[in-house]
Amino acid sequence: MKYRKFGRTNWEVSEIGYGMWGMAGWTGSDDEESMRSMQRAVELGCTFFDTAWGYGEGKSEGLLGNLVRVNPDKKLYTATKLPPKNFKWPSIREYTVEDCYPPDHIESYVEISLKNAGLDSFDLMQFHTWEDAWLEDDRMMNKMIELKAQGLFHAIGISINRWEPWNGVEAVKSGLIDSVQVIYNIFDQNPKDVLLPACLAHQVGVIARVPFDEGSLTGLLTKETTWPEGDWRSTYFVPENLNSTVEHADALKPSAHNGMTMPEMALRFILGEPTISTIIPGMRKLHHVESNIATSDAGPLDSTLMAELEKHRWDREPTEWSQ
Ligand SMILES: NC(=O)c1ccc[n+]([C@@H]2O[C@H](COP(=O)([O-])OP(=O)(O)OC[C@H]3O[C@@H](n4cnc5c(N)ncnc54)[C@H](OP(=O)(O)O)[C@@H]3O)[C@@H](O)[C@H]2O)c1
Repeated sequence: MKYRKFGRTNWEVSEIGYGMWGMAGWTGSDDEESMRSMQRAVELGCTFFDTAWGYGEGKSEGLLGNLVRVNPDKKLYTATKLPPKNFKWPSIREYTVEDCYPPDHIESYVEISLKNAGLDSFDLMQFHTWEDAWLEDDRMMNKMIELKAQGLFHAIGISINRWEPWNGVEAVKSGLIDSVQVIYNIFDQNPKDVLLPACLAHQVGVIARVPFDEGSLTGLLTKETTWPEGDWRSTYFVPENLNSTVEHADALKPSAHNGMTMPEMALRFILGEPTISTIIPGMRKLHHVESNIATSDAGPLDSTLMAELEKHRWDREPTEWSQ
């Protein structure tokens, strides 16, 4: 495993981190299997774990706390997220600080998340939704600075809404945040336009989330794939999205040759972007942990394949099913 600097903090984090949404929210999860998989990741050098209150209303935070407790001799970086007060994902332009992150709500949920995890502090506290316009109301950042000074967390981050990498650039430039979490993968290359250069200039750490486009970049989805009712993916991969996504993913398959798998190609593509601090694939299965972590040692793809994959950029706009 290789390690990268996390923005202006003095942290060195594993370039393959761990996404903890699926294990607490998607159907087909098994807590014992998830714990075994996370423990294997720790053994293989993974040090960055991303959770949120919103992942099973604290369930995923609880699993992360357990992982930290059974590894007292390891430095594991813990990142969680505050839910918006109106519990609406994503935010839209009309929502205000009062609707989403008034100071009393921030304080309550920092306490709730710490309690869920059974930890004294988190390394990173992120806003789970974001609007750059909220910077005009300084109450939310003042509260974060106050809680950080109390040692309840050590760095502040934002998680940018799907397909809106522009809506976070002002936060990066403000100097008030230490990290951004953004969707970055073979399809979603648009953070490279403005967001990543700003992060580089202002020494803000970058967490690349959804590296497999919620599963399609593993090459395993077909137009016939279905999910059980209640699984979030059944409301995201509606026919309109599933059909075009599978077509885009299928168009990539010929690029994965010489024994390389689609998931390996997807992660090694992201490793080629030096501004990214860590990539957080969602993982519940042991063999996914092992193969995903191995991509760090394999390193970024060669320049010919990178150039070929850059042509598969697919710019999308938020819509009613994109969430
Ligand atoms: N708004 C936000 O802040 C936000 C939104 C979405 C996600 N996130 C964060 O980003 C993380 C990653 O995103 P995600 O989990 O939604 O999507 P993702 O990482 O793009 O895809 C996860 C899916 O890929 C599968 N997978 C992983 N490795 C694989 C491999 N080697 N071969 C085949 N399949 C593989 C997983 O299976 P298994 O689970 O069965 O192993 C899971 O079904 C989340 O867990 C969460 O921490 C944040």
